[in-house]
Amino acid sequence: MSNVSAMIKKSEVDYSTEKIQERNNIFVCHPWSPMNTNHSKLMLFRGKGYRVWDVNGKSYIDCCSLNSTCGYANDDISKPIYQQLLKFHGIDLSLASNEPVGELSEKLASLLPKELSRTLFVNSGSEGVEAAIFIAASYWEQIEQPRYRLVSFADGYHGSTFGARSISQLPRIVQPFGSLISSTYVQLPAASKDMRKPELLASLLEKFEKALKNEEQPPMAVIVEPFLNVGGSVQFPVGFLAGLRKLCDEAGALLILDEVFTAYARTGKMFAFEHESITPDILVSSKGLAGGYMPITAVTMKEKIHATFDKDIHIGGVRYGHTTSGHAVACVAALATLDLIERENLCERAELFGKQLISEFSVFAGRGDIIDVRGIGLIFVIEMSSYEMCSKFKFLAQEKGLLVRQSGVTIKVVPPLIVDSQGIEEISHIIKLCLEQGGFI
Ligand SMILES: Cc1ncc(COP(=O)(O)O)c(C=O)c1O
Repeated sequence: MSNVSAMIKKSEVDYSTEKIQERNNIFVCHPWSPMNTNHSKLMLFRGKGYRVWDVNGKSYIDCCSLNSTCGYANDDISKPIYQQLLKFHGIDLSLASNEPVGELSEKLASLLPKELSRTLFVNSGSEGVEAAIFIAASYWEQIEQPRYRLVSFADGYHGSTFGARSISQLPRIVQPFGSLISSTYVQLPAASKDMRKPELLASLLEKFEKALKNEEQPPMAVIVEPFLNVGGSVQFPVGFLAGLRKLCDEAGALLILDEVFTAYARTGKMFAFEHESITPDILVSSKGLAGGYMPITAVTMKEKIHATFDKDIHIGGVRYGHTTSGHAVACVAALATLDLIERENLCERAELFGKQLISEFSVFAGRGDIIDVRGIGLIFVIEMSSYEMCSKFKFLAQEKGLLVRQSGVTIKVVPPLIVDSQGIEEISHIIKLCLEQGGFI
């Protein structure tokens, strides 16, 4: 009997911890993971609030899941999901509609600037970015001024899918068939640790201005993240989004904001662009929308963009979407999550606790292996001297019951936004222990 068929047979009867792990190692393809990663060593099976438990009963504070803004097993979200499941789970929106999708679309419109009122739902952040690119390109065709060139950050990350990969130059994004989209890439003018300094604003905007200019190939849109997530946890100087908005207006380009990670209170505002009081033309928001309880992404566009789709030559409408777009259960999860974000003042809490972490740890910046300490809202970042040091920190933290996230040479501490002051104290305590015991400072 082959290993695999033996495994199938055994797994039917044997659910010991070792067997659960072995089954995982044989059958699961883990995304974005080197082949020698043993994810089954961290086999999680339960969560409550900001804590999760592994199959051996060890508990951790979750500061690594970008999606889980409202914590685990939250009745305020899971009960409405269950009720909706009992009633009606969804239908292909190209055929009919459901009540929750309308309620959620209206709710988003009420949270966003007036012009951003029309939402298309997809399942993942990557799909949202693909949809935004399609909508932007279609818009230009529909107003009979075709434009196909995008401007994006070389170090941006917009997802796993073909188009989303085409607009980044991060080495891990490279695909065998190259870029599918004509994109001009903007390089960061300085090291990640310096990028939030006010004196870098002018050179950063200058790079975008240059990238936008090209009379033969005018830009259809700029797409950026307000904070580079995967591409080095990079924070930008105040005024970046406002300056970019102005440049886009001057070049006649649309501004697409990829707020897949930053939306829904993570940065201390419901949407990160609110820090600069601007309005993007298309907004992609995802991870915190349903708190990770259901997969859902919103692609919200200005009504004046949506209105041009009556000129689409094939169906006279938006030729885009999935049979699961606007899934009723996912919409109910999002409505419950948004309600909780507002009721529990999660924007204010993210701002308060984020500032607390920064003020506690910024003294370590520049000491030993700590290159920089930065953050916005409840995205707390420690930049270290090397990838290896980050990995060492991550595993030490895990041993001590804290799950953090590594992006290159940065450690990201991203707790659920429902974390309380006791949780923040515990997180701080473990980080301090790791810095001391790991010999990082
Ligand atoms: C800014 C940004 N855009 C897009 C994506 C892709 O989202 P998904 O993994 O849901 O496809 C991510 C994921 O981390 C992200 O951080």
